[in-house]
Amino acid sequence: MAPTLPKKLFFGGDYNPEQWSREVWHEDVRLMREAGVNLVTLGVFAWANLEVAEGVYEFGWLDEIIELLHEGGIGVDLATATASPPAWLTVKYPEVLPVNRSGVRLSHGGRQAYCTSSPIYKERATALASQLAARYGKHPGIVMWHVNNEYACHNAHCFCDVSAAAWRKWLQARYETLDRLNESWGTNFWSQRYHDWNEVQPPRETTMGTAPNPSMTLDYFRFSDDQILELYKAERDAIRAVDTEHPITTNFMSTYGALALNYFKWANEVDFVSTDHYLMAHDPDRHIDHAFGGDLTRGWAKGKPWLLMEHSTSAVNWQPVNRAKRDGEELQNAISHVARGSEGALFFQWRASIRGSEKFHSALVSHEGTTNRIWNQMVELGGKLAGLEDLAGTQTAPAEVAIVFDYESWWALSQPNLPSKLLDYPKFVQSWYRALWSLGVRVDIVSPEVTLAELAKFKLVLTPMTYLMSHDLEAKLLDYQANGGNLVTSFFSGISDETDAVKLGGYGGRYVREGFGLRVSEFAPIAEPAALSNGATAEIWQQFAAVTGAEVLATFTDGVAAGQPALTVRKTPNAAAWYVATWLEPNAAKEFFQKVVLELGIKQDGNEQTEVVVRGDMRFVFDHQRSTVEWSQI
Ligand code: GAL
Repeated sequence: MAPTLPKKLFFGGDYNPEQWSREVWHEDVRLMREAGVNLVTLGVFAWANLEVAEGVYEFGWLDEIIELLHEGGIGVDLATATASPPAWLTVKYPEVLPVNRSGVRLSHGGRQAYCTSSPIYKERATALASQLAARYGKHPGIVMWHVNNEYACHNAHCFCDVSAAAWRKWLQARYETLDRLNESWGTNFWSQRYHDWNEVQPPRETTMGTAPNPSMTLDYFRFSDDQILELYKAERDAIRAVDTEHPITTNFMSTYGALALNYFKWANEVDFVSTDHYLMAHDPDRHIDHAFGGDLTRGWAKGKPWLLMEHSTSAVNWQPVNRAKRDGEELQNAISHVARGSEGALFFQWRASIRGSEKFHSALVSHEGTTNRIWNQMVELGGKLAGLEDLAGTQTAPAEVAIVFDYESWWALSQPNLPSKLLDYPKFVQSWYRALWSLGVRVDIVSPEVTLAELAKFKLVLTPMTYLMSHDLEAKLLDYQANGGNLVTSFFSGISDETDAVKLGGYGGRYVREGFGLRVSEFAPIAEPAALSNGATAEIWQQFAAVTGAEVLATFTDGVAAGQPALTVRKTPNAAAWYVATWLEPNAAKEFFQKVVLELGIKQDGNEQTEVVVRGDMRFVFDHQRSTVEWSQI
């Protein structure tokens, strides 16, 4: 059995002692104890301090700090330090540096400056992970392993020749013959037909105003995701070869910068899911995005315990205006994640750096020291988490509603030449999540790989803008419906199969024709808001459809598609299927979902001000007007 997360709630964060003197280390351990810190993530960016030249390791300082932390009763989440290759590596092997879409080789100086298909990077990273595992695997202070850091945050896609060769190998394994590749990519378009594998290039920047083949680009997303996962697996296996005791993870990115990796797939490869979440200052509903992040992470983890590896004590340093958190807001953030299944709350970072590009990022210990509100709030949080210890290992209450979240649809919709540039997949998914959130309806997030048995547990399943829909998913959803499951879908769902080939005979294919009783014939995207016959306002989309087996709830009242169905429902003896042919503005979405939820008898607990989440036997109540959170046993 693979090791799992120890049953406790963790509190602490990234600790970068290599930036500080020994004197500060002692002070750190004292303060960590004062705040109740029980875990720190060590060494994330320390490669250059651990391997000073190829094969020349200097572990002395790490021995010392691990010992000091252990004596202080503080556990270590030991990073493999491979997120930022040292300068000597890329000076010696310049081909390790990544190349962007335009063919420019990028330089050392930031972080993650490596090509994800580089065998040299992989070999050196794995060697370092092996060394660390052999040296510290038996140390009583080690609690878990932290491979790399936020894979793909800065180097998701590399376009160098080494990547091109790996890409062709990946394609050969996927398609076996060039005929199959040509067929899947539709290469009879624009003279793209390939006659030799060596003619196939990565989707590099091409002539002005044109873009590479979209099916190919979609595959490049899949390929890059696989390459990066291989890097993770190589390090993981190197650790596992010498340490069979400690769980291994890598921190995902929940709702920001998460386009490149299919975390549902990644979740199968980690001993437990861990994630980072940062609030977006520009978003007035950032607390709902926060809730979504927690629910999404629980979805990746399939309900198993997971860990919030990073968030911020207050402001970050990488947004246009880095807002500080309100009093009470951080406690709400941490507890919102715990209520949604996180086994604690960790931060970036323990002590604010005085140099480097993250020096103005908040931390537990600020530049001022510890006589300030952030420190006081951290001490308070440490105490509260200790009081919630019994929650460890318990589950968040299951929801009655599921949203299908599909990375591949997101990848396909991030490309140019779609009917509208305003088709924003994660934003649209969240527009539905937000409507339900404000109605006090809790939601589980599932992947397109969800089984029929898993789907059957939900009263209602939503497929918002699920643009790519495999025949398998289509069949699963229709079977779910046939067994009495209720559905809501939207415009631009079910449009293409997994090769991004448009399904014929009405947009949305069998799913929309049979499941929703509509035959969609033409898109009519809009730039200005438009009205519906029920008084609602709609944005971005109108379309033409023949109603073949549904009831029309509202039509478009103006624009080129005036009179066409905007909201419909198809009722079968035991189920209902609603179709939303536009992007409803927030109040309209709320009104629409209120009717759906009432009709299906779905439980509502909470509203826009008061959010309720249940985990184990604890009921958490968040007041978003007063920035408070309280909990009590049920
Ligand atoms: C994360 C990263 C951390 C730190 C943090 C700042 O993306 O993992 O190392 O940079 O952002 O918000």
